[in-house]
Amino acid sequence: MWLARALQSQGFGSRKGCVLRVRSGAVSINGVVCDDPEHEVDPAGLELTIDGVTWPYREKAYVLLHKPAGYECSQKPKHHPSVYSLLPSPLIERDVQCVGRLDQDTTGLLLLSDDGQFIHRMTSPKKGVAKVYRATCADPVTDAALDALRNGVLLNDEPAPIAALACEALDTHTLQLTLAEGKYHQVKRMIAATGNRVERLHRVAIGAFSLPATLAPGSWCWLEAADLQQLETPWPSAKS
Ligand code: URA
Repeated sequence: MWLARALQSQGFGSRKGCVLRVRSGAVSINGVVCDDPEHEVDPAGLELTIDGVTWPYREKAYVLLHKPAGYECSQKPKHHPSVYSLLPSPLIERDVQCVGRLDQDTTGLLLLSDDGQFIHRMTSPKKGVAKVYRATCADPVTDAALDALRNGVLLNDEPAPIAALACEALDTHTLQLTLAEGKYHQVKRMIAATGNRVERLHRVAIGAFSLPATLAPGSWCWLEAADLQQLETPWPSAKS
């Protein structure tokens, strides 16, 4: 693959723009400046440095964002800034999409990718990929509420009760809930159906992959092959 083409594929602008960028001497391959746009590169293990910023070549982009509160999972947000404003422009240019949505006030693990098949696998209710949430409630969590969440609660507009895959109290007001689907406001509505109210909601895991404690709110990182495998690990291997 030509260097300029590799650069373009990573979201660094038009073909012409990438050619000019390479010619200007702004691009290094594995640390060595190359000003020939037609220089052949091997994408495997390729690391580009563009204007001093190092960028690993990725055929598809899989990224993890620690979503802070106060951001909308929309490219056209209405009342709050967009989570996309927390990502660098090459990822936006590659058109990465949120893998399911979190409410503006929900924090935690949010995936973004430009791989449509991956997005489908992670979000399709048929695949049943487990999503693990930690909900802090306004009132104490009762045993009756935990039983109801495990056995199924009826939500408006749903034909049948929906049960959590797992549900446990972490302290008097906090519970951890594992769901197989991602319906609109699902956690808040399920907990409301038990007569309680969610005050804070945090997604801690998807599949067997947990949000790393080292990733600060508002920060993002690339996902590696082992992370992707953990994400797609079917329930009941999910852990928080
Ligand atoms: N359930 C909710 O109610 N909100 C979220 O953001 C995610 C799951």
